[in-house]
Amino acid sequence: MTQSNTQVGIQLGIQRRPKISVIGAGFVGSTCAHWAASKELGDIVLIDINGDSAKGKALDLFEASPVEGFDSRVVGGSDYSLTKDSDVVVITAGLPRKPGMSRDDLLATNAKIVRECAVQVAKYSPHAVLIVVSNPLDAMCHVAFEASGFPRERVIGMAGVLDSARFRSFIAMECNVSVEDVQAFVFGGHGDTMVPMPRYVTVGGIPLMQMLTKDRIDAIVDRTRKGGAEIVELLKTGSAYYAPAASAVQMLEAKKKKKKRILPCAVLLDGEYGIKGLFVGVLAKLGVKGLEGVPALEMNAEERAMFDKSADAVRGLVSDLKRLGA
Ligand code: LAC
Repeated sequence: MTQSNTQVGIQLGIQRRPKISVIGAGFVGSTCAHWAASKELGDIVLIDINGDSAKGKALDLFEASPVEGFDSRVVGGSDYSLTKDSDVVVITAGLPRKPGMSRDDLLATNAKIVRECAVQVAKYSPHAVLIVVSNPLDAMCHVAFEASGFPRERVIGMAGVLDSARFRSFIAMECNVSVEDVQAFVFGGHGDTMVPMPRYVTVGGIPLMQMLTKDRIDAIVDRTRKGGAEIVELLKTGSAYYAPAASAVQMLEAKKKKKKRILPCAVLLDGEYGIKGLFVGVLAKLGVKGLEGVPALEMNAEERAMFDKSADAVRGLVSDLKRLGA
């Protein structure tokens, strides 16, 4: 017996399990759905302009569940009514980078796509938390924020977790220790000016600055900044997806499990760090309401100068958006 997506959607509503919609069923979106489903964070709706592809990936993922033993309903399609009353929506729609492109080259095209997604999402799920993943990330957060009309607590950009994950991975490789023991975060925009913070890195509680020379740390910081481009150069036809999807899912989990995690994310600053009205990556407290606080971090003059430069780069992109009317 087959059921229409609408029937399944209605059932999902009746079950009242947490509902997660993922917009864009490309590699990032479908991998996000995969991990969210396998962690049983809720029932999943996968949306794409190519509705059959989203439907097919959703069905395929659901058919994996009896084997893998996870209990999450997964449906897909192109109709936003499927997303109705989502608790969280992850926006991954947009074009990925090709070799030689910067994230900023995607600005106008992806702004149009993200705007349309955010309008539809807000129409069907006016109380959802939005996690923005599309690039250029910080600028796309502005687009989603304006198009949705949501408060800043419910529009959060995924990039800091990803950039920090890359930073942590490289540190673990260099120190030959478990990634589990590396605490590290990256501030600033999700671009070449991002600001890894080595002074705050610890490895099993030991400050990194006591473990590695400045040269080694500088090399790791540089590789972190170029981490996305490194993958693009290798893949040649698109950008990274495992680590970006895992990072978005960690944010989903913070909300679903009401964790109040402190994670690096792009949030709309409202006077914190002396900045107002700009999405930029900082440490944020994430819980059931979405953004639940922005703890203050003390930066030295060098860190502050790099952070300001990164914020300026984001400001530049936001004004480009306005200039392009995007
Ligand atoms: C990256 C892209 C997704 O950093 O921005 O891999």
